[in-house]
Amino acid sequence: MSPNSGKGAWSPPHRRPLAGELRVPGDKSVSHRALIFGALAEGTTSIRGLSDGEDVQSTRRCLEQLGAHIEDCGELVKTPAGESWSEIRVHGAGASGLKSSKRTLDCGNSGTTIRLLMGVLSGHPFPSRLTGDASLRRRPMKRVADPLRSMGAKIELADGEHAPVKIEGGALRGVAYESPVASAQLKSAVLLAGLRAQGETSVLEPAPSRDHTERMLRHFGLKVGTEGHRVWIYGGAPLKAAPVRVPGDVSSAAFWLVAACVVPGSRLKLSGVCTNPTRSGVIDALARMGAKLDLLQAAVGPGEEPVADITAAHSQLVATEVTPQEFPKLVDEAPILAVAATQARGTTRIRGAAELRVKESDRMEGTVKMLAAFGAEARVEGDDLIVPGPQALKGGTIDPKADHRIAMAAAVASLIADGPSTVLDPGCAQISYPAFFPTLDGLLQG
Ligand code: S3P
Repeated sequence: MSPNSGKGAWSPPHRRPLAGELRVPGDKSVSHRALIFGALAEGTTSIRGLSDGEDVQSTRRCLEQLGAHIEDCGELVKTPAGESWSEIRVHGAGASGLKSSKRTLDCGNSGTTIRLLMGVLSGHPFPSRLTGDASLRRRPMKRVADPLRSMGAKIELADGEHAPVKIEGGALRGVAYESPVASAQLKSAVLLAGLRAQGETSVLEPAPSRDHTERMLRHFGLKVGTEGHRVWIYGGAPLKAAPVRVPGDVSSAAFWLVAACVVPGSRLKLSGVCTNPTRSGVIDALARMGAKLDLLQAAVGPGEEPVADITAAHSQLVATEVTPQEFPKLVDEAPILAVAATQARGTTRIRGAAELRVKESDRMEGTVKMLAAFGAEARVEGDDLIVPGPQALKGGTIDPKADHRIAMAAAVASLIADGPSTVLDPGCAQISYPAFFPTLDGLLQG
């Protein structure tokens, strides 16, 4: 139990710097895909460093319910450098190996789970039902159902928009889909359906979203074409199992990078963080803001995501502008970037941020309210989030409304607030980063 957490609440000790070295959990996006692709592949996929968050557990449970055989390897694997990793093995069922589940598939809080599985199950000739928690049942599913329907899947949504989702999968035809939003979940759902569709399936996006699906499809032996913001595959080719080493999650690392930058006297070293250029927007934005970040790129094997060891230290920050084209590269990091922006000289603009409204909570509103609880000003203009700085934060009590990223961003803000602060429901961090609050307690210097 964390020394600073009472039941259902966390409070920081007053104004202490953070110092130390750590490894963040395995990347959530890569972890979901490693499990799903492993289950669809021929052969056994070993996965090292899978995320231990609840979202990825949701994907695992759904796949097991669909007949996938996933094995924990028990002992941690030790590397020559003395690091230890958890390893699991997915015994692939091949392209047509999944079986119908009599029970509804519960995707919990996880948008990636439900949307990617909608793509997978559209091409399987049996009925499926998927649902999730109250947050997931409020999030848009029609944007995924529409292109899958145009490929031939029969999909019913609650009130035409939301989960629960009923799918009657079957034979699919390829589609040339022009997506109105830059969404890797949507792109990946269409590509996963395309694996079993006849002919070419392509997705064109208005801006590049994270490309983990494209990278992993190639790693599993598939030909993937890309040109500009368009990606295409041909249906019918098998996926071949390949070992996956999951990089550290840059979305989790972002809390530590910002904490080190804003808390005077801090210095943190993070090892093995994913620096895929479609995900590194928060690193790029912080660098423009004058953050003292040192990146040491590590050697990776063929087909692996790029990773770096990153050292971050307290910095004098200046404001920046995030463009709509850049926004998808830091979509999950907007709340913590807004915390950094309160400490920067000038007005930070995070532009084209409409997608924040349809995340685990309305993060546009949630970020403004979280900062307001610390007495800080932030405002929304159209689809832009505007944060003036520098601002002195006061102590506050924050209810993250079950949103893990708002809870962790609030915890970092509380470290620089003058006066006592409380983050309610710190347990919601379990979704992506179960060890976040105990780790934070451990890094705070006595
Ligand atoms: C994800 C894509 C993003 C991101 C989410 C994970 C993924 O969502 O916000 O946390 O793994 O593909 P969108 O693609 O809908 O923007």
